[in-house]
Amino acid sequence: MKKNSEKIRPAKRIEGEIRVPGDKSISHRAVMLNAISKGESVIKNFLMAGDCIATINAFKEMGVSIDTGDVVRVKGVGLRGLRQPKKELYLGNSGTSMRLLLGILAGQNFEAVLSGDESLSMRPMKRITEPLRRMGACIEGKGGANLAPLKIRGGALRAIAYDSPLASAQVKSAILLAGLYADGITTVREPMKSRDHTERMLKLLGADLEVSGLKVSIKRSELTAKDISVPGDISGAAFFIVAALLLAGSKITIRRVGMNETRIGIIDILRRMGADIEVNLLEDSGEPVCDITVSASSLKATVVEKEEVPRAIDELPVLMVAAAFAKGTTVINGAGELRVKETDRIGSMQKNLVKMGGVVKSEGENIIIEGMHALRGAELISFGDHRTAMAMAVAALGSSGESIINDTACVATSFPEFFNILKAAAVSK
Ligand code: S3P
Repeated sequence: MKKNSEKIRPAKRIEGEIRVPGDKSISHRAVMLNAISKGESVIKNFLMAGDCIATINAFKEMGVSIDTGDVVRVKGVGLRGLRQPKKELYLGNSGTSMRLLLGILAGQNFEAVLSGDESLSMRPMKRITEPLRRMGACIEGKGGANLAPLKIRGGALRAIAYDSPLASAQVKSAILLAGLYADGITTVREPMKSRDHTERMLKLLGADLEVSGLKVSIKRSELTAKDISVPGDISGAAFFIVAALLLAGSKITIRRVGMNETRIGIIDILRRMGADIEVNLLEDSGEPVCDITVSASSLKATVVEKEEVPRAIDELPVLMVAAAFAKGTTVINGAGELRVKETDRIGSMQKNLVKMGGVVKSEGENIIIEGMHALRGAELISFGDHRTAMAMAVAALGSSGESIINDTACVATSFPEFFNILKAAAVSK
């Protein structure tokens, strides 16, 4: 077995009480927005993992003092206080870092170069650079500013009213962040609601922002730093939720998970499939926080419509695993965005599940999974994608025979402790 691999044995059940790390989307935003605010802030339960560390390093490189210990302390420099970086801003695997940072850099009077790893260098950026260019930013990169490395020079921006063709929080957020620096009212309208953490946090920090259905408007505003306590990541919790559902006799409680309405499509879909999931609200100061208790359940197939995809986008790989164990044929429609994630997640999940004996087809944007074909252990591969690795670990727990998952170092981008927590919660056969 290679070092960068994990061996997963089938489990009888999973049980106990666990915590998952801080939400990745909220952790990025907590650093970015506090860095361009006036004042100091303390961020608790920040996700100290590859992607969010890339965000911290980028802001440090632009002169922001950020201390990392038990908590993260950010000394905000205000909207205009960032310094030109002396070197390229390397963002590793992190699409959120690159795309949101482009929005902030569009407002700066200096030039910066953003780069990433092999996966990030292949992901589409035109969806961000095209509207930012329209606002007045100069951006260069291969394919008409579509591929990193990207060189950006910001400056005087004009507000735009942007009708986004995609329900993408990264597109929406980049434009709203640029809107902080633009003359006039910047508006983004999206076809379906994507996660709204940026809007919530911008409001908390005092931005002049208005949400009206699918439309968000922002005026040039100064931000004031605020302490933030990051809830547990529902995207990390989803792996344990599905594992508990699949393995007979399981019962698991996941403490203090963020339950923002724009993120919990996975809960709604799984409940429709027959999942026993209890949610207890603990607090709601900006972002709702809940304890989630899940008991093993017999699942039945469902149809996921395109409109449901944005609220469950990062959980679709593990939903494919749930579907492989459900009675009947599950169809997921309109999931084309999965093809441009850290890897093509439709292809990566299909290849792995088929290797285990699953029956999975894909036609363009649609995925069809026939449930209840008994899965057997196999040698699997992450394709360098953290969520494929973690979803396949869940499938491996519920299959017969041992599995090896290769290329698992990538889980460190979002959930470094994943395999340890999973193994501790699993009761072996
Ligand atoms: C994210 C938005 C989503 C999601 C990604 C994180 C964010 O991407 O898949 O993991 O933090 O804004 P898109 O905006 O491309 O849908």
